[in-house]
Amino acid sequence: MNSTPSFSTGATAPTPAQLSEYLKVANTAALAAGSVLQACWGKLESIVEKGRPGDLVTEADRQAEVVILEIIRQNFPEHSILAEESGQYGNLDAEYLWAIDPLDGTTNYAHQYPFSAASIGLLINGKPMVGAIFDPFHRELFSGAAGLGATCNDKPISVSNVDKLAQSLLVTGFAYDRRETKDNNYQEFCYLTHITQGVRRAGAASIDLAYVACGRLDGYWERGLSPWDLAAGVAIVEAAGGIVTAYDRTPFDIRSGRILATNSRLHDELSQELLHVAQIEPWSWM
Ligand code: IPD
Ligand code: CA
Ligand code: CA
Repeated sequence: MNSTPSFSTGATAPTPAQLSEYLKVANTAALAAGSVLQACWGKLESIVEKGRPGDLVTEADRQAEVVILEIIRQNFPEHSILAEESGQYGNLDAEYLWAIDPLDGTTNYAHQYPFSAASIGLLINGKPMVGAIFDPFHRELFSGAAGLGATCNDKPISVSNVDKLAQSLLVTGFAYDRRETKDNNYQEFCYLTHITQGVRRAGAASIDLAYVACGRLDGYWERGLSPWDLAAGVAIVEAAGGIVTAYDRTPFDIRSGRILATNSRLHDELSQELLHVAQIEPWSWM
């Protein structure tokens, strides 16, 4: 999917009961996809590059997506869907748009590095409001919806209290276009590694966001992402008390592919440092 989708800006607000129904279905679909990911683990027959070097797809991605699509369509046949492997179903401007990443962390999965998840988010009027992320390797289901709070395996979760970057543990990632652009996040990664307690690069954007939501990590930034990487995690971080914006703290736009998500207390400081590093000479801070 290379086209830039445009999203609805309609105004009908869902009720808590509706949100909870969407969340239930998202959870069911994420768990079902997780079973597929477990079944295919270590038995892959096909691992191919989709386009850019390193951007892999396997039969596990495809099979998990089929299972998710079936469950979403059965329950909400009138909703639109944007799914990483098979594309777009219905209008992307629709009031209800599911954004589906059947296997987030495919590179990890293909190398049998057990850190991947199925990620299912629902955009309502263009805003991520419901999310379910299931990591089958740690058997953790992260789940949340606007106004309903967030959970991990049904237990409430919330963001951390860390309020200084110098005491924080962050996470980021590098997009598949990193060899083609100077905007590759390398300098941001090094600079923030220098001024924090550490920056992880775990390889699954959805789990990065889930870990911010449950306080294992204090903040996350990345560029070059797609709506299916972000929708579920954004809904869960916000439901857990975090903040999600663009790097410069302007409103988050899922089409931009750029995200800053934190526990809220670190938000201003991390934003300032990201803007600062973009303006300085490479490595001048060392
Ligand atoms: C990737 C992962 C990774 C991020 C990449 C994504 P995929 O998704 O979320 O952490 O850095 O930009 O594309 O390809 O494994 O579904
Ligand atoms: Ca992904
Ligand atoms: Ca994927």
